[in-house]
Amino acid sequence: MSEMAGGVAGAAGDGDMAGAAGRVIVALDLPEGEALALADMLPRGAWLKVGMTLFYAAGPRIVTELKARGFHVFLDLKLHDIPHQVRAASAVLGELGADLLTVHGAGGADMVAAAREGLTRVGAPTKILAVTVLTSMDAAGLEQIGVGRALPDQVRELARASYAAGADGVICSPLEAGDLRGVLGPEALIVTPGVRPAGADIGDQSRVATPGAAVKDGASHVVVGRPITQAADPAAAFEAIAADIRGNNAH
Ligand code: C5P
Repeated sequence: MSEMAGGVAGAAGDGDMAGAAGRVIVALDLPEGEALALADMLPRGAWLKVGMTLFYAAGPRIVTELKARGFHVFLDLKLHDIPHQVRAASAVLGELGADLLTVHGAGGADMVAAAREGLTRVGAPTKILAVTVLTSMDAAGLEQIGVGRALPDQVRELARASYAAGADGVICSPLEAGDLRGVLGPEALIVTPGVRPAGADIGDQSRVATPGAAVKDGASHVVVGRPITQAADPAAAFEAIAADIRGNNAH
């Protein structure tokens, strides 16, 4: 995990980006023009998450544009297809410049391994995060798709299998971070959305943790969207979240 946070340190004028600020990933769930304007308010070298809506609307140029402006891009497209497709798609996204991408662990170990092979083939340093069970799924939803295991066991098993197959880590709820840190060990990336500064509007998130608590519990990075993108001063909101992580994790 230190490698990924450290990777941010190379960007120009990035101040503390190698430290707590390098653990904050801003979800740019906005139309293209607003996403670029918001990015420009944040410190260069910051991590930005591009989800499928922005990617499908703006196209690959959203990645090259953000990279050209000096940002790190987490491309959250949640790939899930036969290994042949995922291998080729990962190679394309790696060449495009994505620093981090997501694949569904439910696609199986061969599919996760294929994503790794695709990136290796083009020499891309892109890291892979596995999605385990979507947090929109509950026990009844899992049963409906034929999964017999209890939800926490399914999360744990998909995390373990994906990591063994070549993923660099997982994306999960902050409430799962501690358990998965124990399962995957100290080097794994553990990235958690569902994070809210103390006292903030939780919006449609139901189970939330503060940024500092998420990192203290085992997250290497937190994903934060609306508390930054809808703030009157996004740069100040970003810095307050970094400060919360710094304050909670001081030695
Ligand atoms: O605005 P907010 O901070 O809630 O945004 C969180 C981001 O993390 C969104 O891009 C959302 O799609 C994503 N996410 C999530 N919960 C998950 C997986 C991803 O909120 N389980």
